Amino acid sequence: MRILVTGGAGFIGSHFVRQLTTGAYPEYDDAEVIVLDRFTYAGNEANLAPVAGSSRLRVVRGDICDTAVVDTVMPGTDLVVHFAAESHVDRSIAGAAEFVRTNVQGTHTLLQAAADHGASRFVHVSTDEVYGSIEHGSWPEDHPLRPNSLYAASKASSDLVALAFHRTHDLPVCVTRCSNNYGPYQNPEKAIPLFVTNLLTGHPVPLYGDGRNVRDWLHVDDHCRALALVAAEGTPGEIYNIGGGTELTNRDLVSRLLELLDAGPEMVEQVADRKAHDRRYSVDCTKIRTELGYAPRVPFEQGLADTVRWYADHRDWWEPLRPQPAGGAGSLTEVSC
Ligand code: NAD
Ligand code: DAU
Repeated sequence: MRILVTGGAGFIGSHFVRQLTTGAYPEYDDAEVIVLDRFTYAGNEANLAPVAGSSRLRVVRGDICDTAVVDTVMPGTDLVVHFAAESHVDRSIAGAAEFVRTNVQGTHTLLQAAADHGASRFVHVSTDEVYGSIEHGSWPEDHPLRPNSLYAASKASSDLVALAFHRTHDLPVCVTRCSNNYGPYQNPEKAIPLFVTNLLTGHPVPLYGDGRNVRDWLHVDDHCRALALVAAEGTPGEIYNIGGGTELTNRDLVSRLLELLDAGPEMVEQVADRKAHDRRYSVDCTKIRTELGYAPRVPFEQGLADTVRWYADHRDWWEPLRPQPAGGAGSLTEVSC
């Protein structure tokens, strides 16, 4: 069996690859794993270093929008797990062209190649942000899509393209919509690693607006386990919400981080709000729980404490990433990581 993992050098994709190649998903123990990644500012060879020696892993540097590249890696692929994306909301406010290109055009290029070459499963990794913002209650999978940020709009577009490939070409697509992930190897542009690395370097935490926006936090390991389950047992054409069940205001999150890092409230700086800042995300996870028997396993307190410790112990990983250089590009070349 061959698995193509796009964006496998990013935060979540690399966790999936590290788990996949070290026996965490027994149904895929014999699988050959190909990572296709453009190594933008968010892709990092260091994320795959722990499994670089695996004889089952091949890493290809290439762009998912490049038909020639995708047509080279797709033949013989049984399962596609598609993580590659521009993923940071603030960057999409600064400029969204790359979001539309990678998230929409790139996803289309992959889906077309998967259909052309007869892939037997395509897991499209999406986000709860496609639903918009919700004050009360939680979204089921059939809730209308009302994305607010340009990032979320590009992901919602890609979800629709993916589902249309199922209906039109019978491609066995599953779409997953997950809540906010946290854990090791997350780029320090995102809230938790930004706040933690700021505190570790004596800088204040920049809290947007009134800090009362709510996010539902899920450990990256629980997200990846859900994806492996959807890949193995999900029904083609179906959407699965994946959530953590730990809803927190950003203020509450910051309080916990201050405590873990022994810092005082003077280390919080209220700054201008994000444009179109979604107030609350909340997915209803009944479907994946009842149909696939999925439940998160990592208790938030433990996961957060472990994550803070990981950043404290891995300065060599994150120091070069603060502040981030822009963009990146690549052609088709093999890299050893
Ligand atoms: P990330 O930004 O850490 O990683 C993205 C990866 O995609 C990088 O390795 C990057 O080099 C690669 N990439 C970008 N453009 C590419 C292109 N054109 N061709 C090939 N590779 C390209 O993102 P992440 O946080 O790991 O998110 C992965 C996926 O999960 C995304 O699709 C995102 O929308 C989704 N998601 C993320 C979260 C979260 O909390 N981070 C939650 C739900 C869903
Ligand atoms: O919900 C899933 C989504 O979660 C994913 O699809 C995205 O890829 C991922 O980036 C994340 O989006 P958010 O915008 O929710 O995550 P971010 O880490 O950027 O911000 C989390 C919250 O913290 C949000 O309410 C904004 C706030 N924030 C963020 C930053 C970077 C601040 O208050 N200050 C900051 O400096």
